Amino acid sequence: MELRAVSLERAGRRVLGGISASFQRHAVSAIVGPSGAGKTSLLRCLNRLEEPTNGSVLLDSSDITEIDPIQLRKRVGMIFQTPALFEGGVRGNLAYGLTDVPDDELRSALVSAGLDDEFVERDSSALSVGQAQRVCIARALVRKPEILLMDEPSSALDRDAAARIEQLVTSLNEGGLTVVLVTHNLDQALRLAHHAILVVDGRVAATGTPREVTGAWPRERSS
Ligand SMILES: Nc1ncnc2c1ncn2[C@@H]1O[C@H](COP(=O)(O)OP(=O)(O)O)[C@@H](O)[C@H]1O
Ligand SMILES: [Mg+2]
Repeated sequence: MELRAVSLERAGRRVLGGISASFQRHAVSAIVGPSGAGKTSLLRCLNRLEEPTNGSVLLDSSDITEIDPIQLRKRVGMIFQTPALFEGGVRGNLAYGLTDVPDDELRSALVSAGLDDEFVERDSSALSVGQAQRVCIARALVRKPEILLMDEPSSALDRDAAARIEQLVTSLNEGGLTVVLVTHNLDQALRLAHHAILVVDGRVAATGTPREVTGAWPRERSS
């Protein structure tokens, strides 16, 4: 995916100021930066949860405004900071909005997300936050995305659950999935990402390997 001079204003306030960046296929790319920098807003521009005020976003050289939004969101899945599931069964959550998905595919998505396939029978209210986050990842995987956008996917989790999400990001990427990961945690970017962009105050402050970007962002500011 590529952003060309993307800017975003909300209520007359500039949130993103001319962001140009590209995210390589089959890589894990990190968007890092301090709180309020515009990372979530930027991620939301990648699947049209947010429409840039100016500039364009391309997927395989096609402007994403020319792709049907439902198709776009199947191709470009989104995982939010706090896992949100509907009341009721995990099965219904996984298949939401789809018709005739074989149970096998739901079960295999759960396994790909690091859960036992019997979770398909569970009630969503009976899950831990970490399990719910993995069900959200499975829900995206059922749609066979090319790209998974993840907004601080482990920040609401305890340390063990966060470590499992990190392992999952690595294994999904090794299976060929392209990942764009927002994190304010530079160490996480160092562990997981091949490339990184540092966003500060709605602008790209540095681009490179996570280590190069870390050099541009003094460590004491990383929390
Ligand atoms: N729904 C919203 N309405 C108005 N302003 C918002 C909204 N969401 C975020 N902002 C503002 O936009 C800026 C960027 O926010 P955000 O993209 O959430 O940053 P980050 O994810 O890096 O913390 C911040 O100044 C934030 O206060
Ligand atoms: Mg955010």
